[in-house]
Amino acid sequence: MIQVAVLGYGTVGSGVVEVIERNKTEINKKSGEELNVKYILDLRDFPGDPYEDKVVHDVDVILNDSEVKIICETMGGLKPAYDFTKRALLAGKSVCTSNKELVAAHGPELIRIAHENQCNYLFEASVGGGIPIIRPLNYSLTAEKIDAITGILNGTTNYILSKMEREGADFDSVLKEAQEKGYAERNPEADVEGYDACRKIAILSSLMTGKNVNYEDIYTEGITKITATDFLYAKAMNKTVKLLAQSKEVDGKYYAMVSPFLIGKDHPLAMVNDVFNAVFVHGNMLGDSMYYGKGAGKLPTASAVVSDVVDCARHIGKTIMCFWDDERVTLTGIEEASRKFFVRVAADKEKEAIAAFESMAVVEADVPSEFAFITDVMTEKEFNEKAEKVGIISRIRVEA
Ligand code: HSE
Repeated sequence: MIQVAVLGYGTVGSGVVEVIERNKTEINKKSGEELNVKYILDLRDFPGDPYEDKVVHDVDVILNDSEVKIICETMGGLKPAYDFTKRALLAGKSVCTSNKELVAAHGPELIRIAHENQCNYLFEASVGGGIPIIRPLNYSLTAEKIDAITGILNGTTNYILSKMEREGADFDSVLKEAQEKGYAERNPEADVEGYDACRKIAILSSLMTGKNVNYEDIYTEGITKITATDFLYAKAMNKTVKLLAQSKEVDGKYYAMVSPFLIGKDHPLAMVNDVFNAVFVHGNMLGDSMYYGKGAGKLPTASAVVSDVVDCARHIGKTIMCFWDDERVTLTGIEEASRKFFVRVAADKEKEAIAAFESMAVVEADVPSEFAFITDVMTEKEFNEKAEKVGIISRIRVEA
């Protein structure tokens, strides 16, 4: 029997216990041995909960128990998760986590400590919730040189944008409704400002390069400035607006960013709606492949954590390879990246806009007192210079 402990009995932690219990026949068979949740660490007590007798408040009970071989860290945040994870790995206990903040901030160090102590640090649930994406990058696409990853990696913002598109509603009212229904956090900043997607693309970019892409180096823009009017224009162009997290290698230079983009309705990511996530991966032999599913939620995320538990159970005392070195990747500044931009200006700025941007595709939509267009391909730097000269209402990047 393999003893397991769960750190944090919140949404994902309780999901982990539920998945291990409900699917025990399948999971034990696939693990090759029976798994048993011996401890649940939480500050709170859970009177009446079927697992209340497993709840402990002192992490040392778990770390000092040599029977515990696998730990699920579902606490989130850096403190005290970083300290608990490090101590668990140093004690030779594998850790499986959904904690993207911790993986993005300390991934290479924790993987190295795990391998030095003949155990593993696995993080399938940290990106894309229940969607298998870490394992495909580590195991399945090993014959590929991956040169681009583009994802819809945040369910909250995708839900908001999908609803804005469908109902013609404004950002604020959709966010408020999403919060009331429990789809968005009371403090939605990490989601709507793109920080959550930023950490996730930092993890995927690191696995793509095998080196460390620091999330703080990634240009990140959220969806708070996207309006119902933007969707009117998008509809007129047969496009939609999605928050994309991107990572690309072009001629040996690495680019990564999180930003709202206009994408064609025929783009595979345009069909990813509501809380669903998807990751679009380009490999030099395979071409495009896409991974789609529930990017958040108790059981989908817990399922990904438990898939890592099964992997650890199959590899007790052995290293599961993961190429993510400490060496920091230098990202090329966003101002050098080239693309088209969708631009809105006041109607009386039409002449200035034409003079500044010269060649453009005018966008006709039923919006009074405005002139809107898509620019030619230009660098962000060139665009910013021209936009500043004209004085624009807004711009959205256009995905090719
Ligand atoms: N807040 C995240 C989202 C949860 O909305 O996608 C999953 O990481």
